[in-house]
Amino acid sequence: MKKLFSLFLVFSLIFALAACSSTPAAAPTDAPTEAATDAPTEAPTDEPTAEPASAGSDVAAKTKLVVGTSADFPPYEYYDGDKIVGVEVEMMEKIAEKLGMEFELVDMSFDTIIAAVTSGKVDIGMSGFTVTEERKQNVNFSVSYIKAKQSIVVPEGSPIATVDDLYTEGATYAVGVQNSTTGDLYITEDVETKGLKLDIQRFTKYPDIIAALKSGKLECAIIDDQVAKAFVEENPELHLLDTAYADEDYALCMSKDNTELLAQIDKALEEMIADGTMQAIIDKYIK
Ligand code: ARG
Repeated sequence: MKKLFSLFLVFSLIFALAACSSTPAAAPTDAPTEAATDAPTEAPTDEPTAEPASAGSDVAAKTKLVVGTSADFPPYEYYDGDKIVGVEVEMMEKIAEKLGMEFELVDMSFDTIIAAVTSGKVDIGMSGFTVTEERKQNVNFSVSYIKAKQSIVVPEGSPIATVDDLYTEGATYAVGVQNSTTGDLYITEDVETKGLKLDIQRFTKYPDIIAALKSGKLECAIIDDQVAKAFVEENPELHLLDTAYADEDYALCMSKDNTELLAQIDKALEEMIADGTMQAIIDKYIK
């Protein structure tokens, strides 16, 4: 009897753990998974439904993709109520459909996604990832599906009118970036190599950058163009400069061990690009 009771306890604990760690899923799932947590939980030993995401795992045997994202990036991935929606979310819905798989989104901070991909905590990083040579050393990128630019957002009435103003001698502007994004990497490199005096402030999530711009704590922010546009539309006291800072391509990233998944994702994406599905999704969100 005692044994039965402790078994019951173990199962309740497993269930409670799974329930606590569940994150908004874009596709309905019928089994809670302890793989989809931002912070690793101690996995109960004989959890029957546990199916941790693991890089290099056999794609054919997998039924669910765990996708790491930073859902602070409208129109690509953002919250509508408690649901994560956006261009890349719809794109992933279509990809998963083509692969005959479910997928589950895990909202995490942007600067932890690549490590989550390389360690196998998530199968895919989907977060408006710009393809860069440095990142390619650690992860594989899919074919790219969106072109973007880094751009600059300032409060209305700002003395900063062009990108060049950040580069004038003696400029000490407080510049906000999301930690580890290309905006961060480019400006940090320029400050280091060109001896700029800018005060770079790094944030984990974009809404905090927007709040800091509005409160005057930041004098500008470097944000991907469509995302900047979305935030400026919501915040009329902010303004988007016309001059772009850098051109980029977005792609999904995966573990270097998972070449089979990469091939499948590329095939799906190539079909979606060729038959106009991708453009239709983009047009739905970006006017
Ligand atoms: N495109 C930029 C980069 O790859 C920013 C991406 C930020 N994405 C996000 N979901 N917050 O570094």
